[in-house]
Amino acid sequence: MCSQVLWVLVMFTIFTFMEGRKVVEACSPNDLKGLIDLKNGIVIDTSGRLAKWVGESCCQWEGIVCEKTTGRVTEINLPGLISTNDSLFQSQMTGLLSHSITLLSFLEVIDLGELYGLAGTIPPTIGFLLPNLRKLYLYGNNLTGPIPESIGKLSKLQELALHENSLSGSIPSSIGNLENLNRLLLYTNRFSGVTPDSLTNLTNLVELDLHSNILTGHIPDRIGQLPALKNLDFSNNQLSGKIPLSVTNLTAISVMYMDTNNLEGSILFPLMSGDLPSLAFLRLHDNQLSGTIPLNFGYLISLQRVSLANNKLEGALPFSLGNLSSLTELYLNGNFLSGQVPTSIGKLSQLLILTISNNLIQGPLPRAISSLQNLQMLDLSFNRLNLSTIPKWLIELPSLSRIYLAGSGIQGQVPDFLQTTPSQLQELDLSVNHLTGSIPPWLGSLSHLYLLNLSRNSLVSDIPDSITKLT
Ligand SMILES: *[C@@H]1O[C@H](CO)[C@@H](O)[C@H](O)[C@H]1NC(C)=O
Ligand SMILES: *[C@@H]1O[C@H](CO)[C@@H](O)[C@H](O)[C@H]1NC(C)=O
Ligand SMILES: *[C@@H]1O[C@H](CO)[C@@H](O)[C@H](O)[C@H]1NC(C)=O
Ligand SMILES: *[C@@H]1O[C@H](CO)[C@@H](O)[C@H](O)[C@H]1NC(C)=O
Ligand SMILES: *[C@@H]1O[C@H](CO)[C@@H](O)[C@H](O)[C@H]1NC(C)=O
Ligand SMILES: *[C@@H]1O[C@H](CO)[C@@H](O)[C@H](O)[C@H]1NC(C)=O
Ligand SMILES: *[C@@H]1O[C@H](CO)[C@@H](O)[C@H](O)[C@H]1NC(C)=O
Repeated sequence: MCSQVLWVLVMFTIFTFMEGRKVVEACSPNDLKGLIDLKNGIVIDTSGRLAKWVGESCCQWEGIVCEKTTGRVTEINLPGLISTNDSLFQSQMTGLLSHSITLLSFLEVIDLGELYGLAGTIPPTIGFLLPNLRKLYLYGNNLTGPIPESIGKLSKLQELALHENSLSGSIPSSIGNLENLNRLLLYTNRFSGVTPDSLTNLTNLVELDLHSNILTGHIPDRIGQLPALKNLDFSNNQLSGKIPLSVTNLTAISVMYMDTNNLEGSILFPLMSGDLPSLAFLRLHDNQLSGTIPLNFGYLISLQRVSLANNKLEGALPFSLGNLSSLTELYLNGNFLSGQVPTSIGKLSQLLILTISNNLIQGPLPRAISSLQNLQMLDLSFNRLNLSTIPKWLIELPSLSRIYLAGSGIQGQVPDFLQTTPSQLQELDLSVNHLTGSIPPWLGSLSHLYLLNLSRNSLVSDIPDSITKLT
């Protein structure tokens, strides 16, 4: 009885042991062929990882993960950037991405990111042959060709990171079928054509980054309805049309970049208090936007950095700007903004950078600006300020070190109080004014100065020797 039990136990142990060995030793022939072809496609591997891929125990190979019960390969993790406990190493692989990778039919994760020299194309059959794929990272390589239409079959896909390659063609509308997709990163490629409307079906999308391609046409109308979106970047394309945010459910969004396109129309958002409650970074510069900055702009209370520069915006700066108490950087230069700087500007106590140059802003400057205790850079050049003199209270701002007051109607001599500013002057542009007298020798004591522009004034002077001290 006892020996029978023992016998069963021994057999069981041996059986389990063999099962274990089987997992270790015998790789599925398909997986093995796929990996060997992948290795053979790569001619240089500075990480040395592939050189150690020998024998047939592919589950033991570096960068390979297998599922225990099936023994099938589920992950290929060979990112170019290798991090160990205390060091980072950027490796490189040169060669072609083998299409045999589709033989590894149980794959869930492919991470071949930032190998730089990896060329070739994405296998056209990927969508049919790798149905379990959750993460596909092929970014930072040298891949060409299109994203295959079959990509839309990868119903489990959560992350698609193909950025920083030379991929081309249009973005297949079948991507709209990937209902589990969280991150779609296609930036810095050569994608052209229109952005497919089907992207607005991706209700789980958190990050949508298509910047620096050659996309044309409109931004999909219903983009404002993606409830989970946090990061939206369409900048540096050739998009046109309006910013479709008149209806918005983008409650999670914190980053919205659409600069350097040909977008037109007015800024229609936010409609009401509570819209875009998380929006922190907004870049709309270098477009063709017209109309005024809406009064409701003051509802975007999470804004930190805003650029509306180089558009065709007109009208006054809304008083509600003062509600944006988290604002650190505001770029409004290169528009047709008029009226005076609103006194509410003084409430932006976090503000570090303010540029309103090249507009039609009139004087006088509100004393409220002297509340901006953190302001480091102020650019008011080329407006209709007609300041006559540089306000002394402005120069006394404790953090101000970069001052641009070109074309501001400043008369008289270069004022002495510029010698003793609370913060060391770094940049001073007083060009295109009516300054008279001479260039003061004390300029040579502004030891932190690296930009000084006094051109196009009426100064009559030698250039003081002390200037040579401004190393
Ligand atoms: C790395 O750190 C882990 C835990 O922090 C430790 O177990 C392991 O031995 C370390 N590896 C090396 C190579 O130092
Ligand atoms: C990328 O491919 C191009 C040719 O298609 C080649 O000229 C270039 O050197 C490759 N870049 C790298 C980093 O291998
Ligand atoms: C979005 O999904 C709906 C239903 O879920 C479908 O009817 C529609 O065709 C899809 N739109 C696009 C553009 O794929
Ligand atoms: C916005 O979200 C609300 C609540 O989640 C929903 O009822 C409404 O239909 C959405 N609006 C649009 C235009 O999608
Ligand atoms: C700005 O703040 C004031 C007072 O805090 C509030 O009454 C007003 O509705 C706000 N306006 C906007 C557009 O945020
Ligand atoms: C600018 O201001 C000066 C002095 O305040 C005044 O004499 C002059 O007319 C103003 N110029 C313009 C164009 O408003
Ligand atoms: C100096 O000012 C003039 C006139 O505003 C401008 O054209 C020039 O580019 C400026 N130079 C530098 C170095 O900023």
